[in-house]
Amino acid sequence: MSPVPTQQKALLLQAKHGEFVVGTRPVPKPGPGEILVRNEASALNPVDWKIQTYGLFLETYPAVLGSEAAGVVEAVGEGVTEYKPGDRVVYEGYRTDDFNHTTFQQYTTINPHLAVKVPESLTFDQIVTIPAAFFTVAVGFYHVTNGPRFTPPWGEGGKGKYAGSPIVILGGSSAVGSNAIQLAKLSGFSPIITTASLKNKALLESFGATHVVDRNLSAAALRDEVFKITGGPVEVVFDAISLPETQNAGFDLLTSSGTLVLVLPPTLDEEKTKNAGDRKVASVVSLVNLPQNEEFAKAAFSKLSGLIEAGHVKPLRFEVLPGGLAGIPSGLAKLKNDQVSATKLVVHPQETA
Ligand SMILES: NC(=O)c1ccc[n+]([C@@H]2O[C@H](COP(=O)([O-])OP(=O)(O)OC[C@H]3O[C@@H](n4cnc5c(N)ncnc54)[C@H](OP(=O)(O)O)[C@@H]3O)[C@@H](O)[C@H]2O)c1
Repeated sequence: MSPVPTQQKALLLQAKHGEFVVGTRPVPKPGPGEILVRNEASALNPVDWKIQTYGLFLETYPAVLGSEAAGVVEAVGEGVTEYKPGDRVVYEGYRTDDFNHTTFQQYTTINPHLAVKVPESLTFDQIVTIPAAFFTVAVGFYHVTNGPRFTPPWGEGGKGKYAGSPIVILGGSSAVGSNAIQLAKLSGFSPIITTASLKNKALLESFGATHVVDRNLSAAALRDEVFKITGGPVEVVFDAISLPETQNAGFDLLTSSGTLVLVLPPTLDEEKTKNAGDRKVASVVSLVNLPQNEEFAKAAFSKLSGLIEAGHVKPLRFEVLPGGLAGIPSGLAKLKNDQVSATKLVVHPQETA
């Protein structure tokens, strides 16, 4: 392997609400217990445009965003035994003040517990579509306070445990929704009812959806469609979109003791919240470095490679944007404008001019 460079290209968010520009920053050195990865593929997520547009989460600029990448281990820190230079890995990154662990840059240092070896049969572009959405669903199904806390399919008796129980997943063609369908299938849920544009029906059926309902139906029409399939209200609705309209529509599908799992903060109508009774609403925050998520993240990522190899968690459809890191801003604009359907946007950081 050639020597690790000291400087790298990174996409810098210059200020709160500011512009993204490609710039240069040092290549971080792996500390004890860390690995340094040369990022060959990095995926875009809605949170990246939200941070820029709404000025969320960050006070330190210039900032480097991005939360998932795949590439080659370049160096390992003291005490690391699971990985060696040359290994192909995919991982979920996270934001810290030094921005050494985010992924819109050519090199990232990470905790190997958040990495997974890439099976020979998969490319970096394929596998980079998986980690963030997988972990979001894992937190929502198995971990979050107030959530359903199902037994994970990798836990004792968890695989197929919920056979015969219906589940509704709103937004099945989103990255999060597609992973929710796949994990729901592995847990045995049936029927698995999801909403999406109907052009994505066959794709979502290939992930395990049993019924794909048009996302453009009114809340009342959706309720009729779902109840026709299930015979009545359901115990769990996973809302992978979590806009006010999907949250309210999802809430209306629940039994009197049902759980609505959201991926954004609750914005339900006040009258529903007031009259929720025993219904529960759980909001997922899937940052891997939150204290409440750290141990669960280690457990979930330790199982991910097996799930991928067994074909239970499949790569999503992807599109590679040209220009390396410089391609990210136009991709984020497409995500923001709801112009991306059932596709993960990916860049190749090493192709940055
Ligand atoms: N809380 C957390 O920790 C966490 C973590 C990750 C993501 N998230 C959030 O989860 C949401 C989904 O993220 P993602 O990366 O999965 O999104 P994504 O893949 O970019 O979502 C695009 C998809 O959303 C679907 N969609 C949009 N509006 C819809 C609606 N009203 N009903 C049904 N489907 C709709 C579109 O479906 P069609 O093309 O089929 O129409 C499209 O395929 C985002 O808000 C993101 O910020 C939260």
